[in-house]
Amino acid sequence: MKHLLSISDLDRDEIIGLMDEADRFREALEGREIKKLPTLRGRTIYTLFYENSTRTRSSFETAGKWMSADVINLSASTSSVKKGESLKDTALTLASIGADAIIMRHPSSGAAQLVADWVAPGGVGPSVINAGDGSHQHPTQALLDLFTIYEELGGVDGLKVAMVGDLRYGRTVHSLTRLLLQYNVSLRFVSPDTLRLPLNLMNTVIDSGINVRESDNVQDVIGDADVLYVTRIQKERFGDAAAYDEVKDAYEITPALMRQAKEKMVIMHPLPRVGEIHTSVDADPRAAYFRQVQNGMFIRMALLAAVLGKA
Ligand code: NCD
Repeated sequence: MKHLLSISDLDRDEIIGLMDEADRFREALEGREIKKLPTLRGRTIYTLFYENSTRTRSSFETAGKWMSADVINLSASTSSVKKGESLKDTALTLASIGADAIIMRHPSSGAAQLVADWVAPGGVGPSVINAGDGSHQHPTQALLDLFTIYEELGGVDGLKVAMVGDLRYGRTVHSLTRLLLQYNVSLRFVSPDTLRLPLNLMNTVIDSGINVRESDNVQDVIGDADVLYVTRIQKERFGDAAAYDEVKDAYEITPALMRQAKEKMVIMHPLPRVGEIHTSVDADPRAAYFRQVQNGMFIRMALLAAVLGKA
């Protein structure tokens, strides 16, 4: 595997391989006081972020460091991007410096693909990992989400997965949906009418033949969902503040709602949350969002090892 630009780059065998490898990294490190493996010694990884991040950037950095890579963080707000430097010049600079991998986040759909074409023409050059490109995709989040479903429920086939919130702009939903199409699942999409899943993606879902339904009410799905995947309304993607205000408080998952859910259901969220899940739900054993963050460490270790040829 050279790059990871879209979740559709991976087939089911590769996905299972990454999850198995993530489990091996977990076994090697969990509970250990000193978290250091020699896997990527001498390799240099750059994170290049043009949008804010807490988990994605810091978990990639930590994953790299746990494998002894050198990890260097660049962000648009502190680099020469501020002076007007183009994405292409910035990317070619990192390739010239000798980056082995570039993990990048950018507000434009397709940015990671462009960077991969620039820095690794003909496949020679650094690996590029898409850590979120606008409202398009966030493939590493989808991998850690799938890994979490496996860890929490023992498998994916046969499950009913409900996605709630901003299905229009939420890139995590777009990547996870595409990933789940490789499995035998039922999908439920819950959003305000203005934030429904993009039509082209919905058509892909329908064409896949899986069981799918849309709704604007969590009540319609809470009773029989196995996975409730809640997302933030993506304020920064709205052109118009009034349109955001209309939907910003559309959903809140509360303990009262959780009482209607299955005992073995899991509630997930890519985070950050800004009110969609009440903090009193955190104590519920079904609340998996912080375990989800931890799973992200191991899946990102597996992915870095795979793209850098050390799996
Ligand atoms: C998400 C993102 O950046 O797309 N966060 C993440 O990476 N875990 C979700 C969001 O910002 O709402």
